[in-house]
Amino acid sequence: MGHSRTILGRLILFPFLHGFILLCMSMSMSTPLESATLSGGNTFGSETDRLALLDLKKEITRDPFHVLSSWNDSIHFCNWVGVTCNPSTKRVLILNLSSHKLAGSIPPSIGNLTHLTGINLRNNSFHGEIPQEMGRLQSLQALNLSENSLGGKIPTNISHCPQLRPHWNNPGMDWKLFFLHGLFLSENNFQGSIPNELGRLTSLRSFTLAMNNLSGIVPSSIYNISSIYDFSLSDNQLHGELPQNLGIKLPNLERIFVGLNSFTGNVPASLSNSSRLLALDFSENGFTGTLPAENLGSLRSLVSLNFGGNSLGNRKTDDLNFLSFLANCTSLEMLDLSGNQFGGECPRSLANLSTQLKYLYFGGNLIHGSIPDDIGNLVNLTVFALDFNHLTGTVPDGIGKLQKLVALFLNDNKFSGPIAPSLGNLTSLTKLYMFNNRFEGSIPPSLGNCQSLLELNLSYNNITGTIPRELVKVSSLSISLDISQNYLTGSLPYEVGDLVKLVELDVSGNKLSGEIPRTLGSCIMLARLYLEGNEFEGTIPQSLKSLRSMEEIDISRNNLSGQIPEFLGKFTHLNHLNLSYNDFEGELPKEGIFSNASGLSVIGNNRLCGGLPELLLHACSNKKSHSSQRLLALKVVVPVACALAFIIAMSCFIVARSKVKKSRGGPAASHSYKGWKSISYLELVQSTGGFSVDNLIGSGSFGSVYKGVFPTDGRVVAVKVLNLQQQGASKSFIDECKVLRSIRHRNLLRS
Ligand SMILES: *[C@@H]1O[C@H](CO)[C@@H](O)[C@H](O)[C@H]1NC(C)=O
Ligand SMILES: *[C@@H]1O[C@H](CO)[C@@H](O)[C@H](O)[C@H]1NC(C)=O
Ligand SMILES: *[C@@H]1O[C@H](CO)[C@@H](O)[C@H](O)[C@H]1NC(C)=O
Ligand SMILES: *[C@@H]1O[C@H](CO)[C@@H](O)[C@H](O)[C@H]1NC(C)=O
Ligand SMILES: *[C@@H]1O[C@H](CO)[C@@H](O)[C@H](O)[C@H]1NC(C)=O
Ligand SMILES: *[C@@H]1O[C@H](CO)[C@@H](O)[C@H](O)[C@H]1NC(C)=O
Ligand SMILES: *[C@@H]1O[C@H](CO)[C@@H](O)[C@H](O)[C@H]1NC(C)=O
Ligand SMILES: *[C@@H]1O[C@H](CO)[C@@H](O)[C@H](O)[C@H]1NC(C)=O
Ligand SMILES: *[C@@H]1O[C@H](CO)[C@@H](O)[C@H](O)[C@H]1NC(C)=O
Ligand SMILES: *[C@@H]1O[C@H](CO)[C@@H](O)[C@H](O)[C@H]1NC(C)=O
Ligand SMILES: *[C@@H]1O[C@H](CO)[C@@H](O)[C@H](O)[C@H]1NC(C)=O
Ligand SMILES: *[C@@H]1O[C@H](CO)[C@@H](O)[C@H](O)[C@H]1NC(C)=O
Repeated sequence: MGHSRTILGRLILFPFLHGFILLCMSMSMSTPLESATLSGGNTFGSETDRLALLDLKKEITRDPFHVLSSWNDSIHFCNWVGVTCNPSTKRVLILNLSSHKLAGSIPPSIGNLTHLTGINLRNNSFHGEIPQEMGRLQSLQALNLSENSLGGKIPTNISHCPQLRPHWNNPGMDWKLFFLHGLFLSENNFQGSIPNELGRLTSLRSFTLAMNNLSGIVPSSIYNISSIYDFSLSDNQLHGELPQNLGIKLPNLERIFVGLNSFTGNVPASLSNSSRLLALDFSENGFTGTLPAENLGSLRSLVSLNFGGNSLGNRKTDDLNFLSFLANCTSLEMLDLSGNQFGGECPRSLANLSTQLKYLYFGGNLIHGSIPDDIGNLVNLTVFALDFNHLTGTVPDGIGKLQKLVALFLNDNKFSGPIAPSLGNLTSLTKLYMFNNRFEGSIPPSLGNCQSLLELNLSYNNITGTIPRELVKVSSLSISLDISQNYLTGSLPYEVGDLVKLVELDVSGNKLSGEIPRTLGSCIMLARLYLEGNEFEGTIPQSLKSLRSMEEIDISRNNLSGQIPEFLGKFTHLNHLNLSYNDFEGELPKEGIFSNASGLSVIGNNRLCGGLPELLLHACSNKKSHSSQRLLALKVVVPVACALAFIIAMSCFIVARSKVKKSRGGPAASHSYKGWKSISYLELVQSTGGFSVDNLIGSGSFGSVYKGVFPTDGRVVAVKVLNLQQQGASKSFIDECKVLRSIRHRNLLRS
């Protein structure tokens, strides 16, 4: 299972290949459905319907297109948008409010619209649960609540609608319309198990519960509804086995979709009894055993067979021999066997499958052998996936006949020999995956004719020769051009600049040489560039500065030299830059990616300098080292200066106060200032050696500055002692504090 998830080009088929007109009671119906006996109660019944509709309107909380504005009393409710009445009884027959972006819940009063034959609320945002009262709609033939946000359990009561049985004796009914009975609950959030009671809906034709959160097993009563032709349970949490007599029980099946569940067991061979079967999707389950191909082969009308993502096959040599049985399915357009355990040879009969075949998915199996030479017979093939197998041999030239091919997945096999030049005939090809094989020889220039290519991956092969300039002129290439991990030589052709839509270019791990072409700067969509592990030389061209979408660049392990251009630091999306093992020199830029060591690698460039310390580059020349000394000075001096500034302030204050106190004759020595508890005047005295002349750093008109060392922690401070007797000393102190606070100096921090 895990493997199947990685398979490329898997198609998960969701149900509803084609919708069909469900609401059977068409307005053109001439004969009234109602019997004469009912018409006596018309006015009353009519009023009931009107009230029920208004009640529904009340529950609708969002109506962006204002479709319900017409639901007012100025016109009869039979003319309201989405309402269809029986013209004679004026009772509501059809309620169709699909695709109006309505939000709200379905009120129980819906059960009052007892003459309803069809409800279509598809593709809105109804939430809440289906009211049990829905069971009162005795004439309901079609209930389409698909594509909403309804939840809870599917009410068992809807199985009470007896009219879901055929009205053979109703003369006004076209028998063809009669069969259009359907329960459409797909794409909601219904929980719990499928109610056993639904098995009573014995005239159901469509039973579609796909894309919900239903669990448990499918009750066997459901397989009693022999009229079902559209059976869709895909994408739920259902488990258990499908009954081996499924095809006998449901002989009218046209579509059976049970993909994306946890079903187990064998694929029922009895499906051959469902002779009208068109489409079958058993994908992404746990089905085991072999395919009853001999039986399926008798279903001539089959269009689509999807068994992908199971555990089918026996890893045996004859596993795929059953393909020969499908040769009579001349309408087959899709065959998906991917992500299983089919072993054995790729049978010659592959080429005998229907020429209508458009999709062939065999990826993720254990298939050996080679592609049949006459594969070119399958002229309608659009997607051909053989990835993740054990295929060998060459890819036959006949592949070039598959002119409608849009995607070809041959990756992760053991193909060898040259890349078929006829691939150049595939002018519709958008994806070509040939990586992880043993292809050899050179890249055929004819690939340049594939002018629809969005993605080409030839990586991890044994390809030699030069890159043909035709290849880099395929200007449709937008997703990726990956020719990495081969033995390519020569230069990257300057025509690479024609790839103006390309997002990823990977030529790493080759033997490419010469300069990085300047023209690469024209590839303005480029987000990922991998040139590593080649022999490129010269400098990084300045022209690359136009590549503003760059996210990842790896140019490591080349012979590149010169300075690292500043513009690389200006690419705002760049999160990975590998420049290692080249011969770059000079100082690293500082901006962008260069300020974040985690996305940057520069090792093995001995002449580079500067950059973040984590990069462990040596410091740049003298001028630069001077600046780094300056940085160090800044780091040491700033805190000291700050402390200093603060202490000046403190000491000013303390000295001033002490002088005042002294003048009053009080003791000053033990006084400490409240706001600066750790420094007392005593400490200041001690630190400055009693304001000794030895510690005098300088003096000015308003006071003297002393150097002090705190005895407790050795901090060095400068203490300014103001001469308060001097006129203006106090103002000077305040000014000085202001100045110190506001100044921006390299040795000072702002407070
Ligand atoms: C009901 O919903 C299903 C699934 O969404 C769709 O295929 C079908 O056409 C719808 N019927 C009508 C009448 O809209
Ligand atoms: C629905 O019918 C019931 C019973 O006839 C009635 O009591 C109720 O009021 C009706 N609801 C609406 C919204 O008309
Ligand atoms: C009632 O519905 C009619 C018909 O759609 C519309 O023209 C009219 O504006 C509506 N009246 C109100 C009050 O919304
Ligand atoms: C239901 O309404 C939608 C949107 O108004 C319309 O496209 C569709 O044809 C209607 N379906 C039927 C069966 O009347
Ligand atoms: C769903 O409804 C929206 C809004 O009317 C519409 O644009 C969209 O095409 C509808 N989707 C389908 C599948 O009908
Ligand atoms: C369930 O359906 C039955 C039969 O139509 C009906 O009598 C009953 O009222 C319904 N239950 C609810 C809760 O509406
Ligand atoms: C689906 O149902 C399971 C229980 O059966 C519940 O745990 C889970 O949350 C549900 N998932 C969603 C998306 O509602
Ligand atoms: C299926 O129908 C048969 C015959 O009508 C009946 O005997 C059987 O009980 C039904 N099975 C289920 C599970 O409803
Ligand atoms: C295909 O159909 C032909 C003619 O009906 C028949 O003879 C042949 O056996 C069938 N082949 C397979 C593999 O079923
Ligand atoms: C290819 O497909 C088209 C369209 O389905 C069909 O008309 C044509 O016959 C097919 N070609 C062959 C050779 O079967
Ligand atoms: C396909 O390509 C080959 C080689 O490039 C060429 O000889 C051949 O004529 C082409 N076939 C078709 C059908 O275009
Ligand atoms: C690929 O080519 C190299 C050198 O040309 C050779 O040594 C190697 O065996 C080849 N590998 C394969 C798998 O062919």
